Amino acid sequence: MSQQSCLAGNPEDNRSDEGRARDLLAQMTLQEKIGQMSQVNGGSADLHQAVREGRVGSVLNEVNVEEINELQRLAMLESRLGIPLLIGRDVIHGFKTIFPIPLGQAASWDPAIVERGAAVAAMEAESAGINWTFAPMIDIARDPRWGRIAESLGEDPHLSSVLGAAMVRGFQGERLDQQGSIAACAKHFAGYGAVESGLDYNTTNIPENELRNVYMPPFKAALDAGVATFMSSFSDLNGVPCAGNEFLMKQVLRQEWDFNGFVVSDWDAIKELTVHGFTATDREAVLEATDAGIDMEMASPLYGQHLPALVEEGKVSEQQIDTMVCNILRLKFQLGLFDNPYTNPGHYPRLVNAQHLQAAKEAALRSCVLLKNDHQTLPLSKQTLGSVAVIGPLADDGYEQLGTWVFDGESQHSHTCLQAIHALAGEEFEVRWSQGMASSRCRKQDGFDDAVQIARDSDVALMFLGEESILSGEAHCRAEIDLPGNQEQLIDAIAATGTPIVVVVMAGRPLTLQSVLDKVDAVLYAWHPGTMGGPAIVDLLFGVEAPSGKLPVSFPRLVGQIPIYYSKKNTGRPPSHDSITHIDEIDGKAAQTSLGMSAFHLDAGFTPLFPFGYGLSYTRFEYSDIAVSADRITLGDTIEVSSTLVNAGDCAAEEVVQLYVRDLVGNVTRPVKELKGFQRVRLEPGQSQRVSFNLHTDELSFYNRKMIQVTEPGMFHAWIGGNSDTELWTGFEIVDS
Ligand code: NOJ
Repeated sequence: MSQQSCLAGNPEDNRSDEGRARDLLAQMTLQEKIGQMSQVNGGSADLHQAVREGRVGSVLNEVNVEEINELQRLAMLESRLGIPLLIGRDVIHGFKTIFPIPLGQAASWDPAIVERGAAVAAMEAESAGINWTFAPMIDIARDPRWGRIAESLGEDPHLSSVLGAAMVRGFQGERLDQQGSIAACAKHFAGYGAVESGLDYNTTNIPENELRNVYMPPFKAALDAGVATFMSSFSDLNGVPCAGNEFLMKQVLRQEWDFNGFVVSDWDAIKELTVHGFTATDREAVLEATDAGIDMEMASPLYGQHLPALVEEGKVSEQQIDTMVCNILRLKFQLGLFDNPYTNPGHYPRLVNAQHLQAAKEAALRSCVLLKNDHQTLPLSKQTLGSVAVIGPLADDGYEQLGTWVFDGESQHSHTCLQAIHALAGEEFEVRWSQGMASSRCRKQDGFDDAVQIARDSDVALMFLGEESILSGEAHCRAEIDLPGNQEQLIDAIAATGTPIVVVVMAGRPLTLQSVLDKVDAVLYAWHPGTMGGPAIVDLLFGVEAPSGKLPVSFPRLVGQIPIYYSKKNTGRPPSHDSITHIDEIDGKAAQTSLGMSAFHLDAGFTPLFPFGYGLSYTRFEYSDIAVSADRITLGDTIEVSSTLVNAGDCAAEEVVQLYVRDLVGNVTRPVKELKGFQRVRLEPGQSQRVSFNLHTDELSFYNRKMIQVTEPGMFHAWIGGNSDTELWTGFEIVDS
């Protein structure tokens, strides 16, 4: 399309985006300004007319490129000022080529692969006319009951910060106006992951100190990576719902962090301020939201309905409106939309092309975590294997492997595990297949006999179990997080055959696997692995690649342990393996005492089933000789912490080497361990490498009782290892200058 608005780029025009936004603002009526602050769902009644009249600044959930181009044409050529539209969409883990769910991508601990995934998603989405994604979601998630843990990058502030920033870079590219760059959105500001009992939309109560030390760092990292927009959370934070939370949006985001992009509310969240009981009317809700600094309203139409009168009455100043609108216009200029808002899909790489599929496969390869591998059951050898039994509801389901919140991905592009096993087997070994259960939630057993029969006749049973996509994601929380339906009974039935069992779990969250672990020989946790899940998983099962994923979140033994995360506080009575008693060991009528007691559950102990950072390989990595470059450093200096890593097994593999630190004494108590660095290292068998991390004293800072960010002089411990349970440590001291 060649039509352009009167404001289209003129090569002579070298004013800044800010200057152009200001000039445009000066020509706008109040109605037009409020229009820019309003985001409307695609397909809404009257949308074309509303765009013509300048009552819409952004449209979400429209993916038909002809319709998007028509909306842009109306905005550019038929509205008075010709202001293009932001076209927003939840492009969470891919557009057409679907990558592993974000929690799975986080298990890769690989910023490069995560960045590539976002770049592929941006390229594909932009080819459909989308110029803004509502991602990354960087809420710290420590409760696997919460369905949205699937969309998160896990429990840890450092890992989420590094990977969230990688996603921002992937979506936004070097410059927002380049092909394949779309605006990103850091969401949900802030604290959504702390919803009580892992229940979506529930209340959060987070002390400011914890908010700043745990929940905010990923958002600050996204901001430092240049994220264009933020989205406020649905949740109520310490009594103030985020869509009306001035502390978050004004004090932290604008004043302390100097953010100059814009903030969008979540869907209907401004209207819901009244449902929360925070405001009495829609009008009050608008006042609170604008006061808080929510620049754009998603879905509900209250800004358009109430802001004109509020401005007229002087309750909201036009200057405030100007600031908010300018934030929005600036992004439209940065994206280059005034110069060309139209999309020609023919100018883009083909959707779901070979390179995109390869990137999705690599992401899936790195995100699978080997949790158990007794007697070296894995990798399987196609040379020695006579037959495999492929069993389970998720072995051949191209839709379910895609995972939650996939609106544009299509299962027809999925490569399933069964397909990949057939492709690999060729004539070399026999593949027998029985679904066993119609779905992961199925409570019938009528498919068991077939499954048992093929397991009995085969050398190994590969069971593909877990959760369907719809059991995680927004509004899909669970109170029990075990394998749903009759899957455990299916395991029992197969285990009774005596055939070795390998379980591949596809799920949107950590599941409680304690009760099934002893019944099976190996477990590979694949999350929802996306379009290329099948070939990636099968490469891992057959040793084409060694698994290298590590858990981005602790796996509880039982739901009652939640929240359980590695960077807990020590408490005054920390547990140890010697200090705990099991419920069955207590004598009848034992005397009541708390002496010598510590913080553990009588029926679950104090450890998770698998700790944060955990993941096995087909080789054995050994760590030794941890050292620091100095026993004592001065505030402002950098210390080097290093250790020797040896590949002591017999296959080449990658290890995620992790650095943890403990600040022994703090003005507020500090976690027993905090991740401060990680690296992926590939070693050949027998090869060793010295792995080192540079740690600046600023990286050891935290918010103290007065909410001041400080690094305190004192003693520190540092660990290097392959998971958060590592015991290889050393110490150093930080002294004042
Ligand atoms: C609600 C979700 O909380 C948010 O993450 C999403 O971007 C919007 N809906 C739009 O779909």
